Amino acid sequence: MEKIFNEKYRPTEFQDVVGLDTELPKLVNQSMPHMLFVGQAGTGKTTTAKIIINKLNADTLILNASKDRGIDVIRDKIEPFASKRSEQIKIIFLDEFDATTPQFQTALRNFMETYSNSTRFIATCNYPNKIIDPLLSRFSIFNFNNYQEDDKIKRLKEVVEKENIKISDETLKLLMKKNKDDIRAMINFLNKNKDKEITDKDVVDNDIINKIVIMLKEDKWQQLRMELLNIHVDYEATIEQLESLCFNSKMSVEQKGKINLLAQKYQFEMNFSFNKELCFSAFLYELQKLLVI
Ligand SMILES: Nc1ncnc2c1ncn2[C@@H]1O[C@H](COP(=O)(O)OP(=O)(O)OP(=O)(O)O)[C@@H](O)[C@H]1O
Ligand SMILES: [Mg+2]
Repeated sequence: MEKIFNEKYRPTEFQDVVGLDTELPKLVNQSMPHMLFVGQAGTGKTTTAKIIINKLNADTLILNASKDRGIDVIRDKIEPFASKRSEQIKIIFLDEFDATTPQFQTALRNFMETYSNSTRFIATCNYPNKIIDPLLSRFSIFNFNNYQEDDKIKRLKEVVEKENIKISDETLKLLMKKNKDDIRAMINFLNKNKDKEITDKDVVDNDIINKIVIMLKEDKWQQLRMELLNIHVDYEATIEQLESLCFNSKMSVEQKGKINLLAQKYQFEMNFSFNKELCFSAFLYELQKLLVI
């Protein structure tokens, strides 16, 4: 079976990770501090962690915090791993760390120090504000956002050339604009459309953000909500992207300001909501009122 592009082009060397902080490889070779990778989806956090683990040939415990998120994980998995003998450096990799509970994070504080002579933590997260301050200060933090356009386009062009994909530089730029720093989404898009001549229309037509705005302007909140139930939506990221789209449009400053306040309010509430879809659709309802005037 053919490998999907995102696996085929997953970097295995630091130098191939777009926008990687140049200090990071040096630190890995020196003291290897606890590291926290912060950034939106698809920006290379997990990839970088895997490269480090490989380079150090580390004995590794991988935990995905969206499953392993409670305090019992410390007792049942982390503690036995950290206290066992090993010739190699031990790494505990906490993917999606922002999904852990505050109790888990509090318990981890002391723990990190107790075992720091043999064990290092690498954690990834989308939202660092969900991590308690005393824990944040124990990590070296690396940002995986705001890549240079040139670096991104270089990587995408590599894929385009190797796979013989037909897409112009302008359309590639549009793809980058639409997906900001989500390199996974860009590569996935190329994968899906690899056999056709890709035009601007293909990029924009798939744009869920534009679709939401168009439907809300047409007063179709109810229909939109039903349609969104059938597809995967990253609610927090979508709120941000909707705000950004409105901010860069020709709306009045007053309207932009109101949308900004609304986006902030719902991003905050999203953190405490047990039903994110409910919260997101309430956001869309209020947004519709601001768009239909
Ligand atoms: N900075 C990057 N440089 C090169 N390729 C990248 C980069 N970021 C993402 N990719 C591509 O996207 C794929 C997924 O990246 P990765 O799993 O590291 O994302 P992530 O930041 O961990 O995302 P999530 O927050 O969703 O877990 C990689 O296999 C690679 O093909
Ligand atoms: Mg990841």
